[in-house]
Amino acid sequence: MAILKIARMGHPVLLERCAPVADPGAPEIRRLAADMIATMEDAPGVGLAAPQVHVPLRLFVFRVPDGRRGGDPEDLPLGNAVLVNPEVELLTDERVLRWEGCLSIPGLRAAVPRAPRIRYRGVDLDGQPVERVVSGFHAGVVQHEYDHLDGILYTMRLTDFRLFGFSEEIARATAPAGDRP
Ligand code: NI
Repeated sequence: MAILKIARMGHPVLLERCAPVADPGAPEIRRLAADMIATMEDAPGVGLAAPQVHVPLRLFVFRVPDGRRGGDPEDLPLGNAVLVNPEVELLTDERVLRWEGCLSIPGLRAAVPRAPRIRYRGVDLDGQPVERVVSGFHAGVVQHEYDHLDGILYTMRLTDFRLFGFSEEIARATAPAGDRP
């Protein structure tokens, strides 16, 4: 496995509409997915889409660590997962602001409007169908990664630029007074 170079905002590959994966089980796709998981873990991050490693194909890897989930039972925990040729259906017109970062936009965070509940479908590396209804953090991660496949970065979704800044400043501003360095 290899740690791949991550494209940063400004690189044109992040603005492409990615092409479907013709054969999800192909050896080169399995190798790409394994390298993407290694890259995501190394970063560390909770999601990584193929265009972020300069491959404009419709797949992403992600994980939902127990510690990051909300209390909702539909906010399903998930180990390292690969989703190929995904589709996302927003199950509500409601939008909630969720704090997000992106490995292609290092050091920054923003509160991004996202649907709180979605259904997603796709296939895994064996071509087996995947379908889940999820909420909360899990739903946010999938919407963020799915956007990458259409060339959309979270910055393009922002509605309140006051809620956009450097992670360190935001952490300092929101930490309890006694915890401030
Ligand atoms: Ni991202």
